Amino acid sequence: MSRGAIAVLSSENLVHNLEQIKAAAPSKPLIAMVKANAFGHGIRSTAARLERHVDNLGVASIEEALALRKIGIKRPITLIEGVFEPDELLIAACQQFHVVFHDVIQLEWLKGLSLPLPLVAWLKVDTGMGRLGFAVEDVPHALRVLKDCPSIQQPVGLMSHLACADDTEHPLNAVQLQAFAELAKGWEGPKSLANSAAIFAYPQSHYDVIRPGICLYGVSPIKGKKASDFNFKPVMTLQTRLISVRKRMANAFIGYGGTYQCEESMNVGVIAIGYGDGYLRSLAPNTPVLVNGKKCHLVGRISMDMAAIDLRSCDDAKVGDPVILWGEGLPIEEITEGSSIIPNELLTSVQSRVTFHWTLA
Ligand SMILES: Cc1ncc(COP(=O)(O)O)c(C=O)c1O
Repeated sequence: MSRGAIAVLSSENLVHNLEQIKAAAPSKPLIAMVKANAFGHGIRSTAARLERHVDNLGVASIEEALALRKIGIKRPITLIEGVFEPDELLIAACQQFHVVFHDVIQLEWLKGLSLPLPLVAWLKVDTGMGRLGFAVEDVPHALRVLKDCPSIQQPVGLMSHLACADDTEHPLNAVQLQAFAELAKGWEGPKSLANSAAIFAYPQSHYDVIRPGICLYGVSPIKGKKASDFNFKPVMTLQTRLISVRKRMANAFIGYGGTYQCEESMNVGVIAIGYGDGYLRSLAPNTPVLVNGKKCHLVGRISMDMAAIDLRSCDDAKVGDPVILWGEGLPIEEITEGSSIIPNELLTSVQSRVTFHWTLA
C-alpha cells in the first residue's frame, strides 16, 4: 500500500472554470496565467489542457516559457515580468514570447539590438500597486524608446496590475482604474488590466486582453465570496488516507508539543500527509477535513508526514479510508478562512512527493 497522498486534478473543472471566465468577459482574448507551476497544478499538464482554449499563456520566467515550448506548446507565451537578462531577448523573439517591459534597465538592453524577428511588447505601468512598472509620468519616454526600437513590433501594449481587486471596498481600486483609463485614452496598442477578481468585479477593466489566474483553478477571487458564487469548481482535490485509528483516553496528548489533549475518550485518526507534502504546519489546529464525506477536524500539530484528526463525527472510520484535505466537497477557502494563509499559497506549496493525477477530459 503506497502512502496515499494524492492531488487529483480535474481537466473537466479546469475547462469549466474557463467557460465561466469567458462568459464574464465575452470574446475577450485571454492570457491564462500558468506561472508558478500553474499555481501548483503542474505547468506542463495544465498548459497542455488549456492551450486550445486560450490565446496566450502567462509565465514568470523564460525557464517556465521554455518548458512549455519543449513539450510542444505552440501558443504565444507572455513573460509577465519580462526578461531578467539581455540575452533572453533573443530567445524571446525566436520563441514568440511576448515580453513585458517594466523597468528602464530592460529598455537599455534594447539599445543597438537587432533581433531576427520583431518582439511583441507590453509596457507595464504602475498605477498604484507599488511593485513593478513605470511611473505614470515616465510612460511617454518608455513608449518612445519602444517605438523607436526597430526590433519591437508596433503597436506596443499597455499593461497594469491591480493591488486590491479582491477587496471591492478598497479605495485603491478606483484610483488604479482611473489612472489606467487616462493612459488608455488614445493608446494605439492592446490594453490589459484585469486579473481574476477584476474580471468579475470591474467589467470596465476588461479592455482588450484579460489575465485570469487563481479563478482558473476554481478558487474564489473575491474576499468573502465562495467559489460556488461564480460557479467555479475546484481543479485540485488533495487527498490521502487514514493510516491509524486508535481510541485515546481522556486527557491523552496528541502529537508534537502535546498541544492537544483529548477532551474525553475518543477515536483519533492519523492521516498520511504533513508539511513535507505541502500541508502547511501553520494551518489552524482545528482545520476541517472530510473523512468518508463527513467533516472532521485536525487536532494537535501537523508533522512532516502525518497529521491527527478527531474522529468523533465519523465513528465508522477505519484504516485505509480516504480523507480529503481540500477540493471536491471541501472548498479551499474554508481551509484558509480566518488565517493569514491564502489559497494560492496552499496550492503552490503542494510538493512533488504527492502523486499528481489528472482526470481524463
Ligand atoms: C501581472 C499579473 N497578471 C495577472 C495575474 C493573475 O492574478 P489572479 O490570480 O489574481 O487572477 C497575476 C498573478 O499574480 C499577475 O502577476
